[in-house]
Amino acid sequence: MKKLAFILMASSILLVSCGNSKKKEAPKKVSAKVEKKATPAAKADPVAGKKLFGSKGCTACHHETAKIIGPPVKEIAAKYAEKKADVTKFLRGISPAIVDTDPTQVAIMKNNIDTMVKAISDADLSNIVAYINSVK
Ligand code: HEC
Repeated sequence: MKKLAFILMASSILLVSCGNSKKKEAPKKVSAKVEKKATPAAKADPVAGKKLFGSKGCTACHHETAKIIGPPVKEIAAKYAEKKADVTKFLRGISPAIVDTDPTQVAIMKNNIDTMVKAISDADLSNIVAYINSVK
């Protein structure tokens, strides 16, 4: 007898996955939260302002109570309080001098406004002004 060799044709089921190979490249949207720092107009600090008044060179001409070249800080504070004027405006070149209006004197300080004061940041200047205004 002939051995019937059963050749089992193993039908290989090709599982061709016709699915579109969409690689789910999930864009990891880890949205970098640019947290806007709520900078609540940092309170002006007269102590820091006093230090800046020295480090920025103002003390070369301004003493607290005595006149050197410029008027004493005390006098500036008193005048600005009396006139309800704004020291910042003067230092930013917006308003004119009210303490010492002598043209030669004004020219000296004007030169500072255009150079040394210009280089001072608003934050630093607000501290300096807080210091000036605090001198009694
Ligand atoms: C080279 C000398 C000199 C330096 C340095 C100087 N000042 Fe003066 N400053 C003067 C003179 C002079 C006056 C008077 C003229 C005037 O009032 O504008 C004056 C006046 C002022 C006044 C009064 C302005 C007014 O209304 O009359 C303020 C405020 C002032 N200075 C702030 C500063 C500050 C802040 C600095 C430092 C960043 C500084 N000064 C550096 C010479 C100087």
